[in-house]
Amino acid sequence: MNAVVFDQFGPPEQVLQYREVPEPIPARGEVKVRMLASPINPSDLLYVAGHYGLKPKTFPTTPGFEGVGIVVANGGGLIGRLRMGKRVAVLNDRQGNWSEFTVASAKQVIPVPADIPDDQAASFFVNPATAIALTERVLKVPAGAWLLQSAAGSALGKMIVALGKHRGFRTLNVVRRPEQIEALKKLGADEVILEKDGIENQVRKITNNVGVKYAIDPVGGTTGTQVVRSLADGGVCLLYGLLSGEPVSVDPRLLITGSKSVQGFWLADHMKSIGLVKKLQLIREVRGLIQAGVLRSETGITYPLERIGDAVREAATPGKSGKVLLRIGN
Ligand SMILES: NC(=O)c1ccc[n+]([C@@H]2O[C@H](COP(=O)([O-])OP(=O)(O)OC[C@H]3O[C@@H](n4cnc5c(N)ncnc54)[C@H](OP(=O)(O)O)[C@@H]3O)[C@@H](O)[C@H]2O)c1
Repeated sequence: MNAVVFDQFGPPEQVLQYREVPEPIPARGEVKVRMLASPINPSDLLYVAGHYGLKPKTFPTTPGFEGVGIVVANGGGLIGRLRMGKRVAVLNDRQGNWSEFTVASAKQVIPVPADIPDDQAASFFVNPATAIALTERVLKVPAGAWLLQSAAGSALGKMIVALGKHRGFRTLNVVRRPEQIEALKKLGADEVILEKDGIENQVRKITNNVGVKYAIDPVGGTTGTQVVRSLADGGVCLLYGLLSGEPVSVDPRLLITGSKSVQGFWLADHMKSIGLVKKLQLIREVRGLIQAGVLRSETGITYPLERIGDAVREAATPGKSGKVLLRIGN
């Protein structure tokens, strides 16, 4: 079979290759999936560059943490047998999904209802579950409260705007391009501000000089620093990405006065920290909100696997239109 692989860490457009590799064989508790589509997420690009929290156990290795496919074989075990022939969302931290076939733990594949098309099913879990976990499970943003978020024009940022409108919390959104303002307002954003005009001063103005109790930042650097500086007394900011590649810098006095806090959030750790019942509840909530059209992933340009170089270049291009998708099979 053919797959995208890399033999060493480096810039994705330089180190990723499309080539023939042996077909994977599922072990007990695993399933083999014929892949249909997989998105290119920022986490995939960080993984290939060697800057992600997870590292490959061996090289060559195949990237691609999520995607959608059909279960075509299983290595034994009840869950694997039950999944046979099903179209599933594949959450893969073992083999990588940018491949004609992949293997994953049977517990990490989620059957997807027929009314969710492949492009949405490919991004079924990571961003929707993160949007819910950040706002409802960890911060527990109450209706009416402000949630400040940077990179609000990202796929995940847009889901958070839509979730705010649905649940009743107010979103104060930071974007870096003026053309993102209208699009976010249409989705139901309460306020949209431009990063270059300064975050802290605009947040203080909108909140009558109080600041916000709830904030999330996937950018870091000066953006993340200003987001943290916009916290009200007792406020909490979750850092959940590093789009700028730069550290957040905070004067301890800022956190000490008014008991503010900054925490990290990673979906993988969140999932490990909750029991089976809560995991199933989260999956049900994700499925329901996607089916209801509340959470959607906007698909940008679609590439075949063999054009991986063009695909990762497009995924890293500022101002790209929607999530870049790898179309793998039919
Ligand atoms: N911690 C977790 O568990 C977790 C889970 C899911 C996602 N994430 C993180 O969430 C973030 C968004 O993911 P996604 O899938 O929604 O991304 P995405 O839409 O595929 O693309 C990245 C977005 O971030 C913006 N961006 C990139 N660099 C930026 C910078 N330096 N300053 C401001 N904005 C910048 C881009 O803005 P333009 O449109 O202007 O180019 C683009 O909208 C990523 O950092 C990802 O790693 C974390």
